[in-house]
Amino acid sequence: MAYSFISIDQQDAVLVLTIQRPDQLNALNKATIEELNLALNEADQNTSIRCVIITGSGTKAFVAGADIKEFAGFSVEQGEALSRDGHNLLFNRVENMSKPVIAAVNGFALGGGLELAMSCHFRYASENAKLGLPEVTLGVIPGYGGTQRLAQLVGKGKAMEMITSAQMIGAAEAKEWGLVNQVVPQEELLNTCMTIAQKIATNSPRAISAALRSVLSGYSYAESGLNTEIKEFGECFGTADFKEGTTAFMEKRKPTFEGK
Ligand code: COA
Repeated sequence: MAYSFISIDQQDAVLVLTIQRPDQLNALNKATIEELNLALNEADQNTSIRCVIITGSGTKAFVAGADIKEFAGFSVEQGEALSRDGHNLLFNRVENMSKPVIAAVNGFALGGGLELAMSCHFRYASENAKLGLPEVTLGVIPGYGGTQRLAQLVGKGKAMEMITSAQMIGAAEAKEWGLVNQVVPQEELLNTCMTIAQKIATNSPRAISAALRSVLSGYSYAESGLNTEIKEFGECFGTADFKEGTTAFMEKRKPTFEGK
């Protein structure tokens, strides 16, 4: 299968998936999400692969979010579908992989980018990484699992602060908060991820998939939270604040919100 928005590189038992839209800071458009879904399905079936690393191309961004230009004109129904399809095709898909998926966060991980990193089983970051959920600056909320997974990873209070303030945190703070496990210079990031991935690849794949299922089953309560998120995300698309937020982003200016 030839991909347009991702590249795939298998080194021994480790598959590296790289999102290839550097001029748009690797923003997740529909086609990229679909390609990642296909690649993940294949990787899950392929017994020669025992660990997956997801990263972004270039030195600036892991993923700067969902593609704002693509969804700016969406209706409430389309917004809800965007969120639901994203959960099914990518974010829940990553989390439910039978082999560990590591996020190599090589720069900005914003909105859907941080949500993708949080769907992975754990994260390493480069020193220049910046992480945040800036959706409320666009008049919308995190719609790819961020309202649930951020609270699981850093606790409710820090998640509330990050989501409502839309402020980014740096790599060192992300490590202190438990959002990433390790911080290394950018040029060492992939090799560092590769080293732990190769270690994982020597362990029992059967036991590892059982461990992943067991850890995740403890978080199944988040199911109703995800459904609330999908509905609330969709409803934002019918608001004047959403129109103002997305228009301001595309016009490269600050938004003015009236709360309608
Ligand atoms: N969706 C669509 N396009 C995006 C994008 C996104 N989430 N993030 C960045 N881009 C595009 C920019 O529009 C720009 O495209 P252009 O050259 O055609 O104008 C290009 O990527 C480079 O981004 P730019 O904003 O010029 O880089 P910067 O260094 O000034 O700022 C960021 C970097 C990450 C701070 C800024 O791009 C940003 O705020 N992005 C959106 C983050 C966000 O809100 N994500 C949540 C989405 S739900």
